[in-house]
Amino acid sequence: MSLLDRLKAQIAQDGPIGVPEFFTRCLHDPRDGYYAMRPDLGAGGDFVTAPLVSQMFGELIGLWAIETWTRLGRPAPFRLVEMGPGDGTLMSDLLRAGKLDPEFLAAAQVLLVEVSGPLRARQAARLGEGPRWVGRLDEVPAGAPMILVANELLDCLPARQFVRTEDGWAERVIGLGEDGDLAFGLRSLGQSPIDAEAQAGSLWESSPAQAALASDIAHRLVADGGAALLIDYGRAQPEAGDTLQALQAHKKVDPLKTAGQADLTVWADFPAVVAAARETGAKAGPILTQAEFLVALGIEQRAQALAAARPDRAEQLARQLDRLVNAAQMGDLFKVACLCAPDLSPPLFEDAT
Ligand SMILES: C[S@@+](CC[C@H](N)C(=O)[O-])C[C@H]1O[C@@H](n2cnc3c(N)ncnc32)[C@H](O)[C@@H]1O
Repeated sequence: MSLLDRLKAQIAQDGPIGVPEFFTRCLHDPRDGYYAMRPDLGAGGDFVTAPLVSQMFGELIGLWAIETWTRLGRPAPFRLVEMGPGDGTLMSDLLRAGKLDPEFLAAAQVLLVEVSGPLRARQAARLGEGPRWVGRLDEVPAGAPMILVANELLDCLPARQFVRTEDGWAERVIGLGEDGDLAFGLRSLGQSPIDAEAQAGSLWESSPAQAALASDIAHRLVADGGAALLIDYGRAQPEAGDTLQALQAHKKVDPLKTAGQADLTVWADFPAVVAAARETGAKAGPILTQAEFLVALGIEQRAQALAAARPDRAEQLARQLDRLVNAAQMGDLFKVACLCAPDLSPPLFEDAT
């Protein structure tokens, strides 16, 4: 029985489910979940991420990591952690940039936090035997500073969805329509789930899972030192909007018809992530756009240098640069936040509070 049919049977028997349960089953159901069974990144797959657009993305994050490690006092060993490493491209580019400082590479214990079996295999094919794989952040050994990177991980963590109706607040749930197919519905709520002025009809999201991850990372940074860079498409201010999206072969598809067959995402809620980290005692913020972050790290100069070395690739590099930083492409929609230990000032995030 397909995941869609199993979900319908479960809902018919037990009643509607919340968006987070639906989301988690679609991505991680052991028999049929997208990441468990058929994650397909890349131009020929379902979606493309920034590291797959250009090697410059991972290389610049590598330079950021070297400078952060230097500001930490060049500790050896330290944990170099990537959460949700996809096909391993970002870490591969980061480690290549790391060769600029051999002591950085020698001190780095590379740990990859990955839940997807098929993606672990792709990471191993690209990165070889050097890294160690774990399934959860709390399996990363404590007791040494950590530099953590996660690109497009927060968007894999589910959000609850709330609608402000004329009669008060309701939570969006997934039940069965009259035709027997999955359909969105509403369940009334006794109290207000959102601390904001909300217009009737507006939909608001809240992700306890994203906030919990930020809090876990922050705990580790406060205890052992270090910094975490979280990059994702998402909001920089609290705002209404339905961001649940299913992508298959680079096209938006109906999430309720494609359970387990498509990548499912919600926007990262950066204000909530930053707030959760601060509550834990870490410093966090400011929230930069991807364009601000990459331009400040020198992506334009890097593109020029690469083009000077390989004039035949100049046009391709210009297209890659445009895709990463142009406001109409990924430059504005994607945001970057840094969480760090209270005594650290990572590059570009010296104003973190
Ligand atoms: C959208 S892909 C991003 C891949 C890569 N970071 C990139 O930029 O190309 C999401 C990654 O997060 C992993 N992932 C999804 N949910 C996760 C979870 N709950 N814990 C750890 N990794 C997760 C996926 O298996 C995948 O590697």
